Amino acid sequence: MQVKLKVFRYNPEVDKKPHYEVYDLEADPTDRVLDLLEYVKGNYDGTLSFRRSCAHGICGSDGMRINGRNRLACKVLVKDLGTSRIVVEPLMGLRVIKDLIVDMEPFFAHYRSVMPYLVNDEPPPKQERLQSIEERERFDDTTKCILCACCTTSCPSFWANENYVGPAAIVVAHRFIFDSRDRAAAERLRILSDQFGVYRCHTIFNCTDACPREIQVTKAIGEVKRAIATGKIE
Ligand code: SF4
Ligand code: F3S
Ligand code: FES
Repeated sequence: MQVKLKVFRYNPEVDKKPHYEVYDLEADPTDRVLDLLEYVKGNYDGTLSFRRSCAHGICGSDGMRINGRNRLACKVLVKDLGTSRIVVEPLMGLRVIKDLIVDMEPFFAHYRSVMPYLVNDEPPPKQERLQSIEERERFDDTTKCILCACCTTSCPSFWANENYVGPAAIVVAHRFIFDSRDRAAAERLRILSDQFGVYRCHTIFNCTDACPREIQVTKAIGEVKRAIATGKIE
């Protein structure tokens, strides 16, 4: 099939402002959008810049806006878009470094702010810190995050204020807050109860809609809000 691929282009070193370029391509319906970008880079314009690594929905590096929705380019097939006109743009709310590459540092700063690691200074048992099946299941959903930023950069509260810690950081915090082996839940809840924490979330659900791992992002945020309000981790 013939597709029209319209791509956001911007090189701040030479361009005064961004523009779009359109490429007419022959594509297979089962091609991924990432394949189309690779084709353009290999055959039309080697300067086209985008991030990718695994090409299998695991590394989280190719988050971008595809026909207006945040997605991983390696997980979207041409036939799934239901149109031969495909528009590819960078994630919103983060500075564009070049073309589809955005500056992820503010995103990772929020990630680091919630202590994204297990904290437990108690002497370890001989073998391992045991956990029941139910205890492990409690935070299973939020272990799936691949830090693609599709959620945070689809959130209007984040667009309005980049200081908002954002849904991805809350998902990661949730993963540790509800882990029975961790001992820093109170500290994380304190961090997330400040003016740029969970209460900036107005339950808009764009994050849940955008997540390529199908994590129940808004539900996780709600559970963190409840833990702050009740002082209980259940
Ligand atoms: Fe990506 Fe989902 Fe993690 Fe957000 S919660 S960073 S959308 S994997
Ligand atoms: Fe934003 Fe998701 Fe909350 S889109 S407002 S973080 S439910
Ligand atoms: Fe790794 Fe798409 S390239 S998730």
